[in-house]
Amino acid sequence: MSSPSITIRSLGYSDLPQVISIERRAFPTPWSLAMFVLELSKPSGVCLAAIEDRRIVGYLICSRYADIWHLMNIAIDPPARRRGIATGLLEEMISRAGRDASYTLEVRPSNSPAIALYERFGFRSAGTRRRYYQDTGEDALIMWRTAETASTSSASG
Ligand SMILES: CC(C)(COP(=O)(O)OP(=O)(O)OC[C@H]1O[C@@H](n2cnc3c(N)ncnc32)[C@H](O)[C@@H]1OP(=O)(O)O)[C@@H](O)C(=O)NCCC(=O)NCCS
Repeated sequence: MSSPSITIRSLGYSDLPQVISIERRAFPTPWSLAMFVLELSKPSGVCLAAIEDRRIVGYLICSRYADIWHLMNIAIDPPARRRGIATGLLEEMISRAGRDASYTLEVRPSNSPAIALYERFGFRSAGTRRRYYQDTGEDALIMWRTAETASTSSASG
């Protein structure tokens, strides 16, 4: 659970300059502004911001494809990490999209902080996508969270 000073709300277009600034510090190959605008334009998506002192400290983008939710992006401002903010965003995503819904994501096998976070939420590895990351040629680990895998997870989400 994130600290009481954090508020989670829907992400809006006017948040994007702050989001881009975190994105550039969080990823070697950051999303462009156009990619965020496209995701925000999808009516069925769940796009969230974590706010502290009126400043964005993290965000999450989750898209719906038919009955499957795809966690597309999540990042926390580096100084704000390890305070439960990503946990709070994932809990809100699951509360909005559904506890029994199916979720999938891709993650770099080298990203052990993110994999540990996802495993706490009941995501489990289900194979790899070969050479998914164009910058390094790394494979992606594919993870799924279903009602069944969630029942074995440690997080409340
Ligand atoms: C991964 C990330 C989103 C986690 O955000 P966070 O707010 O720091 O995560 P939380 O504080 O909610 O952590 C919850 C749990 O995840 C795991 N975890 C998070 N960061 C970790 C780390 N650096 N090392 C090991 N485990 C970690 C721990 O189990 C942690 O629980 P604990 O603090 O009680 O041990 C953040 O490190 C980040 O923005 N990374 C860069 C962007 C990124 O890689 N996004 C994912 C792309 S697939």
